[in-house]
Amino acid sequence: MKILGILGSHRNDGATDMMLETVLSAVKAPNTTDMIYLEDYPFKPDQGDRKDPVLDKLEAKLLESDVWVIAAPTYWGGLAGKMKDFFDCMRQRLVRFDHDGGTHPDRFKNKHYLSITDCYTGTFENWVTGVTDQSFRTIDKVMSAAGVIKIHELVLTNTWGMKALPENKKQACLKWGARLNTEQKRDDSTLKRYIELFFMVAVMALLTMGIQVGLRLVSTADFWWRYASFVLIFYVLLGCILHFFTVVKHRRR
Ligand SMILES: Cc1cc2nc3c(=O)[nH]c(=O)nc-3n(C[C@H](O)[C@H](O)[C@H](O)COP(=O)(O)O)c2cc1C
Repeated sequence: MKILGILGSHRNDGATDMMLETVLSAVKAPNTTDMIYLEDYPFKPDQGDRKDPVLDKLEAKLLESDVWVIAAPTYWGGLAGKMKDFFDCMRQRLVRFDHDGGTHPDRFKNKHYLSITDCYTGTFENWVTGVTDQSFRTIDKVMSAAGVIKIHELVLTNTWGMKALPENKKQACLKWGARLNTEQKRDDSTLKRYIELFFMVAVMALLTMGIQVGLRLVSTADFWWRYASFVLIFYVLLGCILHFFTVVKHRRR
């Protein structure tokens, strides 16, 4: 397998690079790694039929690799501009367009990606306020349009003045880098998520209905029958609405 690191930071010796390089260092032969530092590639958007030759090179690298490790810092609360510009310029090539201009996964479908971002913000503040959320969301949106399957995401906080990775982050990068050595699944984990959702609904309904009975808000008659039917109906309706918003609506955009 070929693992391609894509670095979208202003620096190629900073915190984002350390995360990316550590992930790639855990990839072992016969798997191979390659790295793109986007600042080294002066790409421009394609102009109609005039294809940008730099984008051609980058596209070839994307096509020949199986897993992409996408690493970009969070700048001003969003994905770093160079990475965003890369996604913007690659848009025509990442997806197939239908007659309405709707986008569909095309040649990159079923490749895999791991995303990395970082911020100066501290761990607790990032956990509460989600400074890095938008960066991950942008990456996920582009990848999902292209049909590329997510493996995991890694975040690094407190990067101000950082000279070396904290041990826990280094270990996380090595762990996920090592996982890239094994053959990636060809399907995403949608089924697993729907099964998890069923159990979440079942537990929450049991708690809610248990509390209702405990507070004597409802009678205990036919409790289990009402519980089972509620879980089933609620789960089916929730499943339908989630499917609509995550698959159908997405495909329309
Ligand atoms: C232009 C710029 C904007 C940034 N904006 C933010 C920000 O809004 N919030 C934050 O927590 N960190 C911010 N940072 C810190 C970066 O997310 C990143 O953690 C830091 O630059 C270290 O990554 P690097 O060594 O790869 O450059 C910013 C850094 C730069 C250079």
